[in-house]
Amino acid sequence: MSAQLLDGKAASAAIRREVLSRAQCLSPAPSLCAVLVGDDPASALYVRNKERACAESGIRSVFRRLPSSTTQAELLELVRELNADPDVDGILVQSPLPRGLNETELVNAISPWKDVDCFHPENVGLLVAGTPRFLPCTPAGVQRLLVLNSIETAGKHVVVVGRSNIVGKPMANIMLQKASGANATVTVCHTGTRDMGYYTRQADILIVAAGRPNVITGDMVKAGAVVVDVGMNEVEDASAPRGKRFVGDVDFGAASEVASWITPVPGGVGPMTVAILMENTLRAAELRDMRR
Ligand code: GUN
Repeated sequence: MSAQLLDGKAASAAIRREVLSRAQCLSPAPSLCAVLVGDDPASALYVRNKERACAESGIRSVFRRLPSSTTQAELLELVRELNADPDVDGILVQSPLPRGLNETELVNAISPWKDVDCFHPENVGLLVAGTPRFLPCTPAGVQRLLVLNSIETAGKHVVVVGRSNIVGKPMANIMLQKASGANATVTVCHTGTRDMGYYTRQADILIVAAGRPNVITGDMVKAGAVVVDVGMNEVEDASAPRGKRFVGDVDFGAASEVASWITPVPGGVGPMTVAILMENTLRAAELRDMRR
């Protein structure tokens, strides 16, 4: 392996310490309510991580765990209740929701002032306009990881693989802003792209959020590129403690032979997502005080 590791754990711990010191200046302390519907094991793990991060960041956390039989009407009612609750600063509904529930309708029902995921169309619009209220957690976490490791983005070719509303689209938007930590030339590849390697081999910075293991093989990475792997896929592994382990979207072994920097999975982007969520919750609480 020749690439250096982009350590998301260390960077996220530093961000959480900063959030803690600012949260301690606010009374009442910032608060986050996460809604988890059903029993998807990966979602339960994410929510546990968020709960732990809140405790370390001086943020009060309330977690609503609901059965997968919960109806759309019941969820909408809960969101309205949380919108009106002055004791709740940030609301997030953990995705994916069980089949049959309409995620878009729920996200649109969350107050844009409490939308710490930055999924509400008003907040997406503000981001695209270059005047963000909140930053989308995973893309902003990726950008911060680059900045904290002094990786230049201005004038670089950033290739994003994936066009989801959660990662790909906002990632591309952030990197093309005329701002520090951005100002890049951006290409977005997706399932409709022909000959993906043609594009990825031109990337100075390759950001992969495809949601499938080994989408990026070693020969698809330019020598010296920075590789950021957003993927989190559970795969069978008889030698792992639970018979399963998490891998990203990139063939880590092969890519780390050619890249200059690479994120590990886990321990790369995942902790950064949670750290930005803490920053957004702090911001929601600061905005609450300014709006009074
Ligand atoms: N599921 C995967 N990532 C996220 C995220 O950032 N926020 C929410 N609410 N759900 C997710």
